[in-house]
Amino acid sequence: MQLEEKDILILGIESSCDETAAAVVKNGRDVLSNVIYSQIDTHTLYGGVVPEIASRKHIEKINPVIKKALEEANVTLEDIDAIAVTYGPGLVGALLVGVAEAKAISYAAHKPLVGVHHIEGHVSANFIENKELEPPFMCLIVSGGHTHLVIVKDYGEYEIIGRTRDDAAGEAFDKVARAIGLGYPGGPKVDKLAREGNPHAIEFPRAKVAGSVYDFSFSGVKSAVLNHLNSCEMKGLPVNKADIAASFQEAVVDVLSAHTVAAAKEYGFTKVAMAGGVASNHALREGMLQRCKENGIELYYPRPELCTDNAAMIASAGYYEFIKGNTHGLDLNAVPNLKLGER
Ligand code: KG4
Ligand code: ZN
Repeated sequence: MQLEEKDILILGIESSCDETAAAVVKNGRDVLSNVIYSQIDTHTLYGGVVPEIASRKHIEKINPVIKKALEEANVTLEDIDAIAVTYGPGLVGALLVGVAEAKAISYAAHKPLVGVHHIEGHVSANFIENKELEPPFMCLIVSGGHTHLVIVKDYGEYEIIGRTRDDAAGEAFDKVARAIGLGYPGGPKVDKLAREGNPHAIEFPRAKVAGSVYDFSFSGVKSAVLNHLNSCEMKGLPVNKADIAASFQEAVVDVLSAHTVAAAKEYGFTKVAMAGGVASNHALREGMLQRCKENGIELYYPRPELCTDNAAMIASAGYYEFIKGNTHGLDLNAVPNLKLGER
């Protein structure tokens, strides 16, 4: 591969949940390889991620996945400038596999180590997709564990202006999917079924959090879906799963897009990005696009495979930390409840 001397190559490693992933990214934005081993088939049998099984699978897969990432990028460890690894938040046993691997490579190959916040990785997927995007901008982060509205002030600098008080958006999708019998992983299944349903068939609640205009709450809409199912059963009425999926999705999209655009306007941002697994949802993309367009806001989002967990986003976030001199020592540990902005 033709590399300029000033090019910086980061090997990214991600193992915080049920994807074992490694990637090589050049200068924070150019993906040379992005290898993902998904454990979904294994966990589907149990209806959700089993942490102990996830850790064992990571151990089995991490070496071949890294080897493949280097091969596909057509580079060797020698060419790599630093190793970036997710060290939180996530499942502790799963995180530990990636962190231990990254430390071993860092030690053996004499390469700097950069611990990355998983959510910072999700945000950075936008830098890969949109080469011209630079902070500051507003970002809606919607994953399985997080729902945050943040101002990305600079690379690695965030101000959280809204967060969920209960379930994360992805968690609500997963729980509703389970309730209507779609199984795991729920989000993509609700997304697919909702295309056949009427989003206005059932009026599910749009929760407001008293005193915090930009906070979210999704437990109410989830309970409303369960109540609707119970009431249909008691009255002997047929259940239209597609209508439930579409109406639930509409309620969630409505709140997410309304809060994001209102916040962007209040804080004076004309650039809004989306990040995390739920950012690949079709209705959310359409709803956000429409609302942003009406308000003269430019919307950015990564392609679906960069929205869900991957290591290219970790390498990108790692690059921006690395060029600021933010590296870690070999005492780096997994931090399952790491807060955004903490290092
Ligand atoms: O960001 P992610 O891959 O992992 C976490 O960091 O949590 O997000 C996973 C979440 C899951 O809850 C999954 O159901 C949801 O994102 N998700 C979706 C879609 N694709 C993934 N939710 C709604 N629509 C989708 N198309
Ligand atoms: Zn994630």
